[in-house]
Amino acid sequence: MVTVVFGARGNVGRHVAVGLSTRGEHVRLTSREPDAAGFPRGAEVVVADLERAETLPAALEGAQRVFLYAIPDGIDGFVAAAESAGVQHVVLLSSGAVLQADPESSPIARMHTVVESAIEKSELTWTFIRPGMFATNALWWWQRSIRDEGRVRVPYADARTAPIHEKDLAALAVTALTEPGHQGRAYPVWGPEALTLRKQVQRIGAAIGREITFEVIPVEQARVEMGRTMPQIGIDAVLAGWEAGITTSPQVSTVVEEITGQPAHTFAQWAQDHAPDFR
Ligand SMILES: NC(=O)c1ccc[n+]([C@@H]2O[C@H](COP(=O)([O-])OP(=O)(O)OC[C@H]3O[C@@H](n4cnc5c(N)ncnc54)[C@H](OP(=O)(O)O)[C@@H]3O)[C@@H](O)[C@H]2O)c1
Repeated sequence: MVTVVFGARGNVGRHVAVGLSTRGEHVRLTSREPDAAGFPRGAEVVVADLERAETLPAALEGAQRVFLYAIPDGIDGFVAAAESAGVQHVVLLSSGAVLQADPESSPIARMHTVVESAIEKSELTWTFIRPGMFATNALWWWQRSIRDEGRVRVPYADARTAPIHEKDLAALAVTALTEPGHQGRAYPVWGPEALTLRKQVQRIGAAIGREITFEVIPVEQARVEMGRTMPQIGIDAVLAGWEAGITTSPQVSTVVEEITGQPAHTFAQWAQDHAPDFR
């Protein structure tokens, strides 16, 4: 049975590919730029762009299962190509933003809702993974300043979030792709523990064996600094999430262990895994 992994060099996608291969599955990796992806020698690789429907039949030929990123501009072309290729099941990396009270007011919620709706209306069976904040966002926010200056600047030291390790999202996806019982299920996923930003930075410091200076700055300055590494759509969502995390305890979840049988990774484990990125 062939499983196609879109975004196979992405933070989550690369672990989906490894997880499927480890289970002995026939995996086809896709990327818009496979030469830059560093895929393992001997891997089956197809160039595919979800926004260019003409690239999809070759990627999906003979495939039964797909791991998919949410690319709204390409979703109708993907659904048509997947149906005609005979794909049965799609696991979509969606977003917990779709669950918010007024999803129309959020560009992130809207883009993921468009993709979920198109898949729900199709003949494909599906599983939607709906995460909150990824731990990998810490690379966007802090990698450069920790590496270059040994410091972070944030607007809310005591804001709490529950970051999710990308390996846990991938493990959920692999389980939903390879085991029965996940069709038509949507899994909201938050990390296993709520930590203040100050504690998250301390965990990174412990992982790299370096004291990191923690500086609290005005929100508008943070917005400018985040703009150097992050898209605007992400900055608004992150600042809103941090602000909410000052007064409200963020949701945590046990879904990873319930579905995969393995406990979710802590942020300290994520920091250990990514220590080379911060050194
Ligand atoms: N960051 C968060 O806190 C958060 C929270 C909730 C949900 N999410 C969801 O998770 C996603 C980010 O996941 P990640 O960190 O694993 O992403 P990532 O590391 O940035 O990787 C994104 C992958 O998507 C692929 N991709 C992008 N455009 C494509 C296209 N037109 N056609 C085919 N593939 C395309 C890229 O493949 P190539 O470049 O190799 O073609 C890349 O491998 C977000 O976009 C969002 O949907 C994120």
